[in-house]
Amino acid sequence: STQPREQWSTRAGFLFAAIGSAVGLGNIWRFPAVAYEAGGGAFLLPYLIALLTAGIPLLILEYTIGRRYRASAPGSFRRMWRPAEALGWWQVAICFVIAAYYAVILAWAVRYVGFSVNLSWGDDPDGYFFNDFLRVGDEPGAITSFVPGVAWTLLAVWLVTLVVLWLGVRRGIEWCNRIFIPLLIVFFLVLVARALTLEGALDGLDAFFRPDWSALTDSSVWIAAYGQIFFSLSVGFGVMITYASYLKRKVDLSGSALAVSFSNCSFELLAGIGVFAVLGFMAAQSGVPVDEVVSEGIGLAFVAFPQIVSQMPAGAFFGVLFFASLVAAGLTSLISIVQVIVSAVQEHTGISRTRAVLIIGGALAVTSTGLFATDGGLYLLDAADHFINSYGVTLAALAVLIIVSWYLRKLPQQQAEADSSSSVRLGVWWRLCLGVITPAVLGWMMVDSLIGEFQENYGDFPTSFLLWAGWGVAAGALLVGVVMSLLPWRRDDPHAPENEP
Ligand code: PHE
Ligand code: NA
Repeated sequence: STQPREQWSTRAGFLFAAIGSAVGLGNIWRFPAVAYEAGGGAFLLPYLIALLTAGIPLLILEYTIGRRYRASAPGSFRRMWRPAEALGWWQVAICFVIAAYYAVILAWAVRYVGFSVNLSWGDDPDGYFFNDFLRVGDEPGAITSFVPGVAWTLLAVWLVTLVVLWLGVRRGIEWCNRIFIPLLIVFFLVLVARALTLEGALDGLDAFFRPDWSALTDSSVWIAAYGQIFFSLSVGFGVMITYASYLKRKVDLSGSALAVSFSNCSFELLAGIGVFAVLGFMAAQSGVPVDEVVSEGIGLAFVAFPQIVSQMPAGAFFGVLFFASLVAAGLTSLISIVQVIVSAVQEHTGISRTRAVLIIGGALAVTSTGLFATDGGLYLLDAADHFINSYGVTLAALAVLIIVSWYLRKLPQQQAEADSSSSVRLGVWWRLCLGVITPAVLGWMMVDSLIGEFQENYGDFPTSFLLWAGWGVAAGALLVGVVMSLLPWRRDDPHAPENEP
């Protein structure tokens, strides 16, 4: 394109945006649930190992790719090696799927801010969530009616997201993160402080931090830990490539990656502490052990929390803060996911940002409302989330590592790119993690979870449903990626590899 590339105004602007992308529903809604299902304390060690061996090294890799090649995910991979463009489009397709359901959870959270004010769920938060609010149907895969309460909120979420993206990298994304991230920190500190002073909180923390060494031999705990790290740090989606492509040359990349992962993990651990403290309170109220308080992770935020809000003094205030935190965290992440798609399409077709936002935003809003704001929405969301993360994100990350580190042998070059401007120098450990440890773990994860998939249907869903809503969605993303990379795009690429800096 002839327009100069957009840029963050300062390094702080980039950091706010990168932290805003990382800190999301994954920290507040997903992490405590995953940790809870993996048995609490058993989860922390695999989680830290996944962070150090895969999360941080991959984050640095994505930053160096984005800054070096200065393009969207497909554009960056294309400049690295023409056929690798498919990897970038695969990530774009994955982002489309994730954005479509991530926005839905955000919409629920928006509604629950309101519900907290007058405790709308009465004394049956479980029935309220599934029956009254979501109106979940009986049969997975059947879509027979819209759920208006979800649908209009979802459309509002899309409207806000698209306005921010339309305003651009600096005036939209950066500005929005500069407001929401500080706000989120304040909300969160108040929440956790309140949670810690509840009766029974310490029993909850005990369940969270008590190590259970036997769980270390359970492969599903390791898989959950690596999966959580990918999702939580937003690595493997092309987000960090896209955001780093708006950087000025001299920014400290490795230092930024450390700052972002440290912030993200602090939020995650804080959320874990807050949620488990609250579970401890609930256990104390109902006289059961902490690990029996809720039956399912997904219900943690929208079922267990409302229950607690009803039981605690000044609960409404607590509920509003909790769901407002979900909204602030989720909105900034959703924005980053959609920007991956917008930047790719804009760059490769040459259309204006306004048109790209309108076309993609329109398609996303229609898809996400049509599929997920319905009586079949929850089943679809559950299956899509599982399959796109297990057989989209992780598989794409594995492919990136194999191609970039083994086939193209680009790690030394990328290491030099990072070291040229970073206070922390990368050592051989970085290449070791990306070239050996992470691909090995990911490969093993793939095999192990595939075997599990054939032993037992995910979520006990019928095979016919999983075939399209799970496997179909994951395979579709790959197919779209390959097809997009083969389409004849505009060829006048001023930053083609031969002009590479
Ligand atoms: N990292 C975000 C979270 O923790 C989710 C996310 C995934 C954001 C993928 C961008 C890309 O919620
Ligand atoms: Na996160």
